[in-house]
Amino acid sequence: MNQNETPLFTGLLEHAKKNPIQFHIPGHKKGTGIDPEFREFIGNNALSIDLINIGPLDDLHHPHGIIQKAQKLAAEAFGADHTFFSVQGTSGAIMTMIMSVCKPGDKIIVPRNVHKSIMSAIIFSGATPIFIHPVIDKNLGISHGITTDAVRKALKAHPDAKGLLVINPTYFGIAANLKEIVDIAHSYNVPVLVDEAHGVHIHFHEDLPMSAMQAGADMAATSVHKLGGSMTQSSILNVKEGLISAKHVQTIISMLTTTSTSYILLASLDCARRQLATRGKELIDKAIRLAESTRKQINEIPYLYCAGKEILGTKATYDYDPTKLIISVKDLGMTGYEAEIWLRENYNIEVELSDLYNILCIITIGDTERETEILVKALRDLSESRRSSSKETKAIEVHVPAIPRLALSPRDAFYAETEVVPIEESIGRISAEFIMVYPPGIPILIPGEIITKENIDYAKENLEVGLPVQGPEDESLNHLRVIKEFSPIK
Ligand SMILES: Cc1ncc(COP(=O)(O)O)c(C=O)c1O
Repeated sequence: MNQNETPLFTGLLEHAKKNPIQFHIPGHKKGTGIDPEFREFIGNNALSIDLINIGPLDDLHHPHGIIQKAQKLAAEAFGADHTFFSVQGTSGAIMTMIMSVCKPGDKIIVPRNVHKSIMSAIIFSGATPIFIHPVIDKNLGISHGITTDAVRKALKAHPDAKGLLVINPTYFGIAANLKEIVDIAHSYNVPVLVDEAHGVHIHFHEDLPMSAMQAGADMAATSVHKLGGSMTQSSILNVKEGLISAKHVQTIISMLTTTSTSYILLASLDCARRQLATRGKELIDKAIRLAESTRKQINEIPYLYCAGKEILGTKATYDYDPTKLIISVKDLGMTGYEAEIWLRENYNIEVELSDLYNILCIITIGDTERETEILVKALRDLSESRRSSSKETKAIEVHVPAIPRLALSPRDAFYAETEVVPIEESIGRISAEFIMVYPPGIPILIPGEIITKENIDYAKENLEVGLPVQGPEDESLNHLRVIKEFSPIK
């Protein structure tokens, strides 16, 4: 196969060049019928390839032409047996992975700090989650991945699990020993599903952590749009056959996907794959060097700390992606949220995320020294202005409560009859809601779990110190929705 080719994008261009008379949707007809201001801004080129699954352009639901060729090239580039394009983000690919292995009542082993799409898929499939605690980094106030020891323990206790889900690398770029995790799971014949939302690029550079496919994982939902240069919402699902049937995966992804698939998104996946396969190493190399020099400069700024390879060497921090700049502002006596706002207001800088202790800035193949120099200058200024104002804030320690017992599957709890009760009366009842605190982004309660006093106290403590408590209908946490209990009729 020739990785320089882009069968899907080229096919679209050739079709558009013929300028066919269109009696099909989209009704804007090459942009003629679209709002003029939008057309002017977006441009005729983009509108000319905003097409749908007519004969010459293949069909994502039954690919036999240009989409099939593009997916085959992607599979070769990513070292997969099959690659499925997703126009519904990595969320769509993650739901497909879980629904491909779980039916109602099946167990799936997952870390507690999962993305919401994983909990959605658990509810849709009727699976029972077996949670593993991720490791908390108290210094950085973030959660890492899961350890090989935790995986061994979970599989020993639940050898009948239908899948093991791993987030690798984490949002912050920290990777576990994925190869060993895969080997442990495979010794139980349990397939490994990887949430690789933050790791599309790692496959293309040997200095980055091992990718899911390199580690022998069975499926990986990989966000090409996040760090791989395709357009927002486009993503891929890589599959290795053996424990997983690609035909079954095709059925599930099709059930979860719109029939009006965006060809702009699909073409952007085709082109991003070409770039990664043919120039990825060279481009990522540049991003790594830029990130390393930025990290070094940030670490020279008083009271700032940008985490680097010194955090490696624990069971949860096996490897890391240096293009992620985790910048701790804790010693400036401010939160990451405050730093985010300061950078926006003073330097027009937008960060990837902020939390209690940190801001996260990502360096990608799209960055140059121009941007990193402004970031370093802004951080120097932030450090100086904070020191002169000498504000003191009390450091809040990030910790998590014990995981509650699951009394009902999340799906049964989601569909059960519920009622709202004062929070004090919810203790001992079954939660119908999610409660989550960020950081470290670990749910305190999910639907189906028995509410404990410890969970409620923890949620309230976080609320009192101003941390975002997400999920409950009543954001002030005076009331909680629980599963209705029925008294016996006398
Ligand atoms: C760890 C993780 N998994 C999955 C997703 C979902 O990806 P998408 O936004 O492409 O649906 C995200 C999004 O931020 C994420 O951070």
